[in-house]
Order: sequence, then structure tokens, then C-alpha cells
Amino acid sequence: MNTCKSLLAFVMTAIIGGTVMHGADPVAAVPPVIAATKATDGRVIFETVCAQCHGTAGEGKPELKSPSIAGMPSWYVNTQFANLREGRRGHDAADPQSFMMAAIAKALEPEQIKAVVAHVEQMPMKVPVGKDREMANTNPQEGMRLFQERCMECHRYNASGEMAFGSPPLIGRQGWYLEEQLKKFKSGKRGAVKNDVNGAKMVQMTTLFIEDEQMLRDVVAYIMTLNPESKESPFESAGQGAH
Ligand code: HEC
Ligand code: HEC
Repeated sequence: MNTCKSLLAFVMTAIIGGTVMHGADPVAAVPPVIAATKATDGRVIFETVCAQCHGTAGEGKPELKSPSIAGMPSWYVNTQFANLREGRRGHDAADPQSFMMAAIAKALEPEQIKAVVAHVEQMPMKVPVGKDREMANTNPQEGMRLFQERCMECHRYNASGEMAFGSPPLIGRQGWYLEEQLKKFKSGKRGAVKNDVNGAKMVQMTTLFIEDEQMLRDVVAYIMTLNPESKESPFESAGQGAH
């Protein structure tokens, strides 16, 4: 399978529009930067490629639907890069966000991926605040019931994830991102390709146990409450009721 370059450029242009660039021309800047990176230093790769969409501190950008990735464990990011490169995630142009991410993953050399993944892991986690955290018209209590019954065994009681199950931390991600991913699993845009063993778990979970949009939003609202309070040094201030 070869990536259709012109379609990719189109998708990126459509998604990125005029929203991201810091003074540069978005259409001219984005695809060439991604295609041309030869850097092998993780920080340089992050700043040249990833920061455009995931932010300079890895905090994510809602306008691009790109999640916070700072502090994500390397085992999970490695799995996602393998999924993206091997067509288990981002294979469907109807899912433009992961389609775009797949093109980026394929454009990097294995050593570059290794370096940037290590860099991402040691970046301080960004805790969602404000609109990234608020889930309007939801009932986190209901969400808690579902979480404890159906999600906790894999993602752990505090949603910090469990490497042994391949289940990632859910804290640190924005509410809108988690919501989108659950919808992608439920609709088979993510996790439904034959040999995606971990993705299949989530397709099953969302199909069997998340009956409607309200349930989905309630469980995400509950997950948001598991995030530490403070934007800075999240774990140190977690127990101190910061601001
Ligand atoms: C052109 C924009 C863009 C660039 C550049 C980009 N990403 Fe992404 N990335 C996204 C979007 C959008 C998503 C969300 C995909 C989805 O919805 O499935 C994403 C998803 C991810 C995920 C999956 C997160 C999860 O919770 O599963 C990881 C990991 C990731 N990106 C890492 C990186 C790294 C590392 C780089 C730099 C090498 C990078 N990205 C560059 C837009 C981008
Ligand atoms: C049987 C174990 C298991 C259970 C139970 C489970 N998950 Fe997952 N979850 C996973 C695995 C494994 C992944 C990673 C999938 C992949 O690699 O693409 C995942 C991924 C996710 C993601 C995507 C995170 C990201 O960063 O992109 C979300 C959101 C999620 N799960 C939420 C839930 C919710 C909500 C429930 C309960 C309704 C739940 N999970 C129950 C194993 C599980």
C-alpha cells in the first residue's frame, strides 16, 4: 500500500487550514517540514514535526483535534506508531486525524521514532483544564459506575493505564479527545482491522457497554475527575487542592 501524497496534502491543508503556523504560510510549511526531517535528536524532531500539531509542550491543539501527548509512556506510543505505520490505525481517509498521523509516522525512520518517543515520555504530563476538561450536561456519578464496572480492570482505578494489558493512561488526555476515540472504536474507524488485538478490546467494550452518547460522555466526564488539579507539577499538587 502506498500513501497517496496529493490526498495527504489535501487532507492536511483541509485540516490545518490557516490555524496553526506561527507566522509561516500553513500550506507551504506543513507537508515539506514533515517530509524533509533528517534529524535524529528526539527533541529536535519533536520541535520540528510534532510541535506544529501537538503544541510546543505537547499539550495538544483542539482546533486540530490533536491530543496532549506529553509524558505518554513509550510502550504505548511505540504501539501506536507501529499501528499507524502498519495500517491498523489511520488507514481510513474518513478518519482524517489518524490518517494524517499515519502519514507522519510513515515519513519517519525507525531511529527517529525511537528518539522522539523517548523525548515525549520524559516531557511533563499536561493536565487538561477548562474546556479541555469540562464535559457539559453530563453525570460523572453515572460515568463512575460504568468506569468501575467496565473500564477499571484494564485502565486501573485511577485511569493511569496498565502496560501488561496494553491499556494506556486516560488521564492527561482532553475530554473531547477521549470522546472522539470512543466514537472511533464504536464505529470501527479504530481497532477494527484484523490483527489489532488491543484495538479489538475497545471495539468490543464500546459496542457492548456504551449504549448511547450520554453514557459515553458521562464516562469521559468521570475520567476527567481523575486528573490531578494543578496545571503545573500535577502529581506534587494532587493532594493539596491546588487553586
Ligand atoms: C499534522 C498534525 C500532526 C503532527 C505533525 C503530528 N501529529 Fe500526532 N496526532 C495528530 C492528531 C490529529 C492525532 C489524533 C488522531 C486520532 O484522532 O486518532 C494524533 C495522535 C497522536 C498519537 C496518539 C495518541 C493517543 O492517545 O493514542 C501520538 C502518540 C502522536 N500523535 C504522536 C506524535 C508525534 C510523536 C509526532 C511527531 C513525530 C506527531 N504526533 C506529529 C496530529 C499530528
Ligand atoms: C479489556 C481491557 C480494556 C477494557 C475493559 C477497557 N479498555 Fe480502553 N483500552 C484498552 C486498550 C488495550 C487500549 C489501547 C488500544 C490501542 O492500542 O489502540 C485502550 C484504549 C482506550 C482509549 C483510547 C486512549 C487514547 O489515548 O487514544 C480510551 C479513550 C479508552 N480505552 C477508554 C475506555 C473506557 C471508557 C472503558 C470502559 C467503558 C475502557 N476503555 C475499557 C483496554 C481496555
